[in-house]
Amino acid sequence: MPRLLDVVKLRAGYGMFAVLHDISLHVDEGEIVALVGSNGAGKTTCLRCVSGLLEPRSGDIVFEGRPSPGGKPHELVAAGLVCVPEGRELFPGLSVRDTLLVGAATPRARAARAQNLERMFELFPKLRERQAQLCSTLSGGEQQMVAIGRGLMAMPKLLLLDEPSLGLAPTIVKQLFHTISAVREQGVSILLVEQNVRTVLKIADRAYVMENGRVELEGRASDLSNDPRVIDAYFGVGSKEHV
Ligand SMILES: Nc1ncnc2c1ncn2[C@@H]1O[C@H](COP(=O)(O)OP(=O)(O)OP(=O)(O)O)[C@@H](O)[C@H]1O
Ligand SMILES: [Mg+2]
Repeated sequence: MPRLLDVVKLRAGYGMFAVLHDISLHVDEGEIVALVGSNGAGKTTCLRCVSGLLEPRSGDIVFEGRPSPGGKPHELVAAGLVCVPEGRELFPGLSVRDTLLVGAATPRARAARAQNLERMFELFPKLRERQAQLCSTLSGGEQQMVAIGRGLMAMPKLLLLDEPSLGLAPTIVKQLFHTISAVREQGVSILLVEQNVRTVLKIADRAYVMENGRVELEGRASDLSNDPRVIDAYFGVGSKEHV
């Protein structure tokens, strides 16, 4: 499968504080790749670099064979790389429908926004019912659907999702993961940061385990879900696993 995203020896941080130490990872076309690790490991920092929000100190980020235009998230969105950030960041005063339409900001996405809006309502039937409702009055799960739907309205080739299941009940998490698989079936590749390690390894093709700004383990998701190091650190009693 062709390489969609290549991150090579990425270093980044905030001020004097170094967070990422030589992170290398890749996503091939059609893949779901999971990025997991403890709180503070650097997962969000990594997504912020890939989506152009944080300038790396060194290393390469290559999207579809071209070096990433660092610091220019809008150019990356136009090129097909879209990030749904941690914490959703919806405008509370906008309706569901308007929020989805805001996602179709590029000329390419604007031209197809009517069909795509219909596609979003097929993917998330709940949002069709609630299209006139203000985002501030939606449940957590519904807000997450809107945030993902808004990202998809930009017609990404690669969707970065930062902890989409945060704060959701286990049954909603299951549905959400089912939807993420359905999005992949529609031809979108996905890089997914998740704390529900056991569950995410069921839908991912491959995964990277990050600790303290480094990739500690990587491999096929099915292999990692049987790896004692992953089971001990993430599946056991007292781990962050809550599904
Ligand atoms: N804007 C910032 N300024 C200074 N330090 C930051 C900033 N954002 C993150 N950090 C620090 O960088 C480190 C990595 O944070 P990051 O948010 O990337 O971790 P994470 O793996 O996403 O964690 P979590 O699972 O809690 O979301 C942490 O020690 C954090 O305190
Ligand atoms: Mg994070």
